[in-house]
Parts: sequence; structure tokens; C-alpha cells
Amino acid sequence: MKKSGLFAALIGFAFATSGFGQNVTGKWIAPWRVLDNGEQNRIYLDLHQSGTQITGTLNTIGHLYPLEGTMTGTHFELFSNKKDTRPRVAGEIAGGELHLTRNADHFTAVPAKAGDEYPTIERIAPPALHDVKYNGMAKTPPMGWNSWNLFAAKIDDATVRGMADAMVSSGMRDAGYVYVNIDDTWEGVRDAQGNLGSNKKFPDMKALADYVHSKGLKLGIYSSPGPRTCADYPGSYGHELQDAKTFAAWGIDYLKYDWCGARMIYQNDDLQAVYQKMGDALLQSGRPILYSLCEYGDGKVEAWGAKVGGNLWRTTGDISDTWVSMIANIEKQVPTAPFAGPGHWNDPDMLEIGNGHMTDDEYRTHMSLWALTASPLLAGNDVRSMTPATKAILLNREVLDVDQDTLGKQASPVKSGELETWVKPLADGSVVVGVVNMGATETVANIKASDLGLRAGVKSARDVWAHTNVTFTNGSYSAKVPSHGVLMLRVSAKK
Ligand code: GLA
Repeated sequence: MKKSGLFAALIGFAFATSGFGQNVTGKWIAPWRVLDNGEQNRIYLDLHQSGTQITGTLNTIGHLYPLEGTMTGTHFELFSNKKDTRPRVAGEIAGGELHLTRNADHFTAVPAKAGDEYPTIERIAPPALHDVKYNGMAKTPPMGWNSWNLFAAKIDDATVRGMADAMVSSGMRDAGYVYVNIDDTWEGVRDAQGNLGSNKKFPDMKALADYVHSKGLKLGIYSSPGPRTCADYPGSYGHELQDAKTFAAWGIDYLKYDWCGARMIYQNDDLQAVYQKMGDALLQSGRPILYSLCEYGDGKVEAWGAKVGGNLWRTTGDISDTWVSMIANIEKQVPTAPFAGPGHWNDPDMLEIGNGHMTDDEYRTHMSLWALTASPLLAGNDVRSMTPATKAILLNREVLDVDQDTLGKQASPVKSGELETWVKPLADGSVVVGVVNMGATETVANIKASDLGLRAGVKSARDVWAHTNVTFTNGSYSAKVPSHGVLMLRVSAKK
């Protein structure tokens, strides 16, 4: 080889290995997960690269995400949303393939052929609006357990039965936690008549419901108004009444209906009509089924949630087991307070108590804030193996009484800052005050009767976490509150 030829070969090799000059523009296809119902989920990417900038879309069986990001050498990171902290998908380009990482999954995309793209789904026009009759349920905030926060896709019949047993033996059921709710990933496929079955993890949903009922508990299930759920399983789109009847025939008592895949078809303006459709279907199902709307607080749901027959509706995005997430969710719920009441509740998402990433003080605050705000109490931990501290938090009857108070008022903060103070009026004329120490060190909280609107003074007061009566002196009561902890008193007024 001549000297110049060797040089050109070296340059070529360097370009090929550095990725310089490689471009991701084009359509790509990759096998992704096999769902628990046997369906192969694929990732279809349509990308355009200009310089180091990349735009495009990522399509799974149930979702279409916009993408935007950059190429650094051969490595690219693509985000769907400017607020995202981690990429929707990341990867390397090498040898005409994309080596992709999404969450914890690694897979390879190759150039797509015509016909590899997902077919577009026809839009079914949402119905005209009308008010759905109240189903008479959830006079106080619903209580129970849900599989998602801890188990996500790793939920099956045996685990649900074990959880039902533990709900009884731990005293959860007798404290009011009666709903045992299966979240996403139970779904099978539709048969030739369009009937939706469960997948191999749930061999017989009716038998499971019978078992749960035999324990004095109720069974909840999950679906979506879209063609697909958040985890890409079949949703109820175009099968609303059929699915409601299937759920009723199985003996289902509670439906969480999660927007996710509906985004492929509808805009936020359609939320009310789309949720109304399932509200009507549940009433026609032949069984009382509590109706939980899961739309992340979008579309001003609090203004119409009850009109579509909703017994609760999400006011926030998904909670995670951290102090920051828990506090952010409850604070986001504040403006919705006027819309909570018997039969229809604001839902700041399920409990993380006992899942291990907050301190017991933080979990006590979590429980207190959910009770003060009359929020649904759906435990999200492993009820089969609770620590004594977790049990004491979830089973504190004095705190549960605050949540379940028949007046159904959602507390609002009366003071913000380092000591955030929430006040909730109760049916018997007393009030509950919760003071949360938002700071990093222990602080003394001082509660004044005048802050509670008790002008005639305090007749009696009780610390509902310490389970002791306490005394107001000269119209006030002081106590130490640990960092991220709470002081919660039930105070009755002099007449
Ligand atoms: C959404 C919901 C969660 C959970 C998952 C299941 O993220 O907000 O509560 O139901 O979907 O896929």
C-alpha cells in the first residue's frame, strides 16, 4: 500500500470507530419486551439528525413519544420532555445498528422496512356531555391496598391472595382497608368476540374475586380509556361497556381508569367525555363498581370528576417513595380542596408508607397529610411483612378517623414556611391541626387556639400520634417536632 493509501485507510478506520459521519436519520425497529400476555412489544424510532441535534418519535405498541436530543461522538440521549431527568431512550450507533438502552433494558434496533410501523388507530368520537348519576359509593375516602407502588409488573394471583390474607391477619381490613386493587399488567388479549381475558399471571379472575370476597374484602382492577395502558397492555378503548360487564361478571368492585394510552387518540379537552363513557358503562354493568379516575390532575378534573361518576380522581403525577415527591404531590392538591366531599375525592396518589426510602417520621407526615386532606388511603407496601413502625402508622385509628370523618372536608394549609400548618374541620365541630416540620432540624411548634378559629377557647386536645391528651395553656400548646416530622392534634372547642 502506498503511503497516502495507508493514511486514507487509517482516517477511514478512525471515522468508522469514532462514529464521525454516522447519522441516525431514518426509521429503526427493535424488539423490546415480551408482555405477560405473550405480545411482542417493539420500539419503532423515526429519527432525524442535523449536525449533533436529533429530533423524532418513539413508538411502542401503546405510546407515541416525541424525542429531542443530541449526539456526542457515537452516543445519543433522547428526551420526550424538557423536564425529564433521564432520557426516554439512549444509545450508540455502530455498524449500521443502534444499541439502545431504555430504563434497565438493552436492545438493538436495525433499519425498519415498510410495514414495520404501528398502524394508526381510528378515533372514536367521544359522547356528548351529560351528568352521570352518583353511584352512592365512597361516602368517605376509599381505603385499601394497590399493587403498583411496590410490585409494578411483578404482581400475580398468588401475591394478591397473600396480600388479602395479610390484610385480615394484620388488622388492615378491620381498620377499614377493604379494597385489594390489582394495577396494570394483569391484562390478557381479546378473543374473537372482543372479550378481554387476564394473562397467565391471573389464571382465573372470578376465582380470585371469590377468594378476596371470602375474606371480607373487595377486589379492584385497572384499565385505560385508550387502546393501551401505561404499561402497553390492552385498554378498554371501543370496548367500554363490554369490559365493564366483564369486570362485573368477575366480581370486581373498583376500577382505576388510567388515561395514558388515550393520549394516542384524544386531547385533554376530551377527558371529561371519555371518562363519562366508562362512568355510564359501570352504571350499566349490573354491579356497584367504585370509579377511580387516573389522569394525573390534567384537564381541571376536580371541576368535572364527580359529573362523570368519579368517586376519586388523581390530582397529581405519580408519587415515588421520597420526601420531595410526597410533599410535591400533597402541595399540588391544595387548590382542589373545595371539590372534595362525600362520594368524590381528590387523590394525591397511593401511599408509599413502609416501602423503605423515607424515615418513619416522614411516613408519619405522609399519613397525616393524606388524612388531613381526606385523601384515599391505598397502602402501597408489602402488607405480608410490615415492620411494627409501618403497622403502627397505617393502623393508627385516631389518624384514620381524621381521614374518614363524615364531613369530608379537605384540610388547607393555614401557614406555610418551615412549619407548615394544616387545619381540617370535623363533623363533631372539633378541628384537627397538623404542623409539619419542613426543616432539617428539630423545632418547637407552637399551636395557638386563635389559629384554629376556636375563639371561645379549647375544651380538650389530643395528640393523635402520641395517643395522649394535651393541655393548651393561655390559648397555646408547644411541642418539639423532629425534622420532616409532624405534630397532629385533635382539638375540640369550648361552646
Ligand atoms: C400510571 C399511573 C400509575 C400506575 C401505572 C401503571 O403511571 O399513574 O399509578 O397505574 O400507570 O402502568
